[in-house]
Amino acid sequence: MTRAAASLSATCRAYRLVPTDGGSRLGQVEDVAPAPGPGEVLLRVEAASLNYRDLLILRGQLGAVREGLIPLSDGAGRVVATGREVTRWRVGDRVAPIFYRDWVAGAYREAYGPAALGGGDADGVLADLIAVPEASLVRIPNELSVEEAATLPCAALTAWQALVVRGGIAAGDTLLVQGTGGVALFGLQIARAVGARTIVLSSSDEKRERAEALGAFATVNYRATPDWDVPVRKLTDGLGVSHILELGGPDTFDRSLRALAAGGRIAQIGVFTGFGPRSNLFRLQQINGTIDGVNVGSAEQFEAMNAFLVAHRIKPVIDRSFAFDEAQAAYDELASGRHFGKLVIRL
Ligand SMILES: NC(=O)c1ccc[n+]([C@@H]2O[C@H](COP(=O)([O-])OP(=O)(O)OC[C@H]3O[C@@H](n4cnc5c(N)ncnc54)[C@H](OP(=O)(O)O)[C@@H]3O)[C@@H](O)[C@H]2O)c1
Repeated sequence: MTRAAASLSATCRAYRLVPTDGGSRLGQVEDVAPAPGPGEVLLRVEAASLNYRDLLILRGQLGAVREGLIPLSDGAGRVVATGREVTRWRVGDRVAPIFYRDWVAGAYREAYGPAALGGGDADGVLADLIAVPEASLVRIPNELSVEEAATLPCAALTAWQALVVRGGIAAGDTLLVQGTGGVALFGLQIARAVGARTIVLSSSDEKRERAEALGAFATVNYRATPDWDVPVRKLTDGLGVSHILELGGPDTFDRSLRALAAGGRIAQIGVFTGFGPRSNLFRLQQINGTIDGVNVGSAEQFEAMNAFLVAHRIKPVIDRSFAFDEAQAAYDELASGRHFGKLVIRL
């Protein structure tokens, strides 16, 4: 017996992945509405957001996915029914599912990997109604709209884990971020809130201006200045930066090593130029540097991050939001690289 389920419609809209040559395409379907099992809640997804990973999954670059998989890891909405034995949530609560369904607290375990939403065999959030285990949800702060909250589960939490949980970033530190996408701009906002200075690399001078308006200490056009490690060192009195969100991968890692200050930390996060890096790590040894491999975060970390975002009045940067029927246009916009911050789909 589920509470409040009686008033719900019997069907719901969803997107499901349809196999193509080497990848998938989006297929819009009308599904039977799921029913929450014991310990699960039924969530009405009100907004979802896209990450670069979603593009890799659609293109088949992260391995095979189940035919009919519901895509996208990041969403937020409202509890509309609760299954038996649910104790934490009530109908009407505003919540977001966590990226790794089973990573609630403590250290990461490899067993959590296969249950990353919207990839492999684990259905994601691009559906009106989804059933979610009650431990796999976090409360959305009242200060954030549901669209803003839908940008947090992957991009924001990755920046948080890299900079705060692992990186211990503090006032006086200097951060380098690559590009002006989701992870990069959350990194800038978190660093600014703790009193650290951020240098933003961007291929667009217009986006550099927007990054400066958001609080970047300096920006460098990495297309016009391919040896961007040189100006980054100049901007830091020849010392280099203390923290780097490494989003490029094989083609950017060597420059990141050169831009890193003695004792600094590189958070290895991204794969824009492929999977890697393939770098010679001798310089890292010479400067007593550290590489943190960073993989999103837990529900416990998500809750701590939300408290921080509220305390520092940080609002996610949303470039554009799309209607549910425009999901393909949202993917196309992500692929174009025109966006600044996050792209959202309203359900
Ligand atoms: N390890 C994890 O847990 C984790 C979590 C989230 C994301 N990621 C990875 O982190 C990266 C960022 O993800 P995202 O979702 O934030 O991406 P995104 O929002 O799609 O960011 C796109 C922007 O990144 C910049 N960019 C693209 N290629 C670049 C390059 N070669 N060098 C520097 N900047 C480049 C461009 O900014 P400009 O237009 O300003 O040049 C582009 O507009 C991706 O590789 C993603 O797979 C990993």
